[in-house]
Amino acid sequence: MAMLKSSLAFLVLASAFFLCFIMSIGDGSYDYFQFVQQWPPTNCRVHIKQPCSNPRPLQYFTIHGLWPSNYSNPTIPSNCTGPQFKKILSPQLRSSLMRSWPDVESGNDTRFWAGEWNKHGTCSEQTLNQMQYFDRSHQMWSSFNITKILKNASIVPHPTQTWKYSDIVSPIKKVTQTTPLLRCKRDPAKPKSQFLHEVVLCYEYHALQLIDCNRTAGCWNNVDIKFQ
Ligand SMILES: *[C@@H]1O[C@H](CO)[C@@H](O)[C@H](O)[C@H]1NC(C)=O
Ligand SMILES: *[C@@H]1O[C@H](CO)[C@@H](O)[C@H](O)[C@H]1NC(C)=O
Ligand SMILES: *[C@@H]1O[C@H](CO)[C@@H](O)[C@H](O)[C@H]1NC(C)=O
Ligand SMILES: *[C@@H]1O[C@H](CO)[C@@H](O)[C@H](O)[C@H]1NC(C)=O
Ligand SMILES: *[C@@H]1O[C@H](CO)[C@@H](O)[C@H](O)[C@H]1NC(C)=O
Ligand SMILES: *[C@@H]1O[C@H](CO)[C@@H](O)[C@H](O)[C@H]1NC(C)=O
Repeated sequence: MAMLKSSLAFLVLASAFFLCFIMSIGDGSYDYFQFVQQWPPTNCRVHIKQPCSNPRPLQYFTIHGLWPSNYSNPTIPSNCTGPQFKKILSPQLRSSLMRSWPDVESGNDTRFWAGEWNKHGTCSEQTLNQMQYFDRSHQMWSSFNITKILKNASIVPHPTQTWKYSDIVSPIKKVTQTTPLLRCKRDPAKPKSQFLHEVVLCYEYHALQLIDCNRTAGCWNNVDIKFQ
């Protein structure tokens, strides 16, 4: 009897461990997506150790990544154990991505795509396989032209003008009907001064519908924002 009890206990424990194991491997568990676009001149301005490969950075918002995200934990998931990046074979998709998702720092687009897929894409592989992940990201980029939305609101790169957080958010919100998030980079040359770096749009679990972003903004409160 005692023997039966202990082997039963063992079985229960073993199953519990097995379940935990299954749940922790590779598993893309996430709540929603953050679609992050960046302003290349800001990348190059703060990327001071090694200058950007192209001395004249692109003057339009480009993709940084599509990140499966967790509401309660800002750092995970990442580096899940899904299949690693495979070369993008479709010439159409490649040429689209070279426009929408270039590596503005080192100029090696494939390495950038591989890094983003391996770190983030693997965590939502059950929803979007690699082809769908890149294809969907390009569609997202095409469906809301942030550069154009801002230009339409007279928010264009300017050497001295500054904007408030809400000045930049409201024209985007008006077009997308949801709340985006902005991320800034501090000016390496001037403390307490910040540049617009990224615009984040949030999508629900299936990456089909926009939703409000509700993470804390990545800009200092009450510090004007430069866009250059
Ligand atoms: C989000 O992270 C929390 C804390 O690590 C975890 O308990 C939760 O299961 C995660 N949510 C999803 C959907 O994975
Ligand atoms: C994920 O992998 C990348 C590239 O190898 C590494 O830079 C990063 O620190 C890793 N992140 C975590 C949370 O392990
Ligand atoms: C770009 O990066 C990939 C992957 O790291 C590497 O195999 C390739 O040689 C690089 N290309 C150039 C032109 O440096
Ligand atoms: C986005 O808008 C900018 C500014 O109007 C324009 O120059 C650019 O061609 C547009 N990009 C696409 C892909 O339509
Ligand atoms: C351009 O601005 C007008 C006036 O604010 C606004 O009604 C319209 O939705 C904007 N269009 C785009 C594409 O941003
Ligand atoms: C963000 O929204 C989600 C979904 O409605 C909710 O679960 C989460 O608690 C919210 N987080 C914050 C910081 O408001």
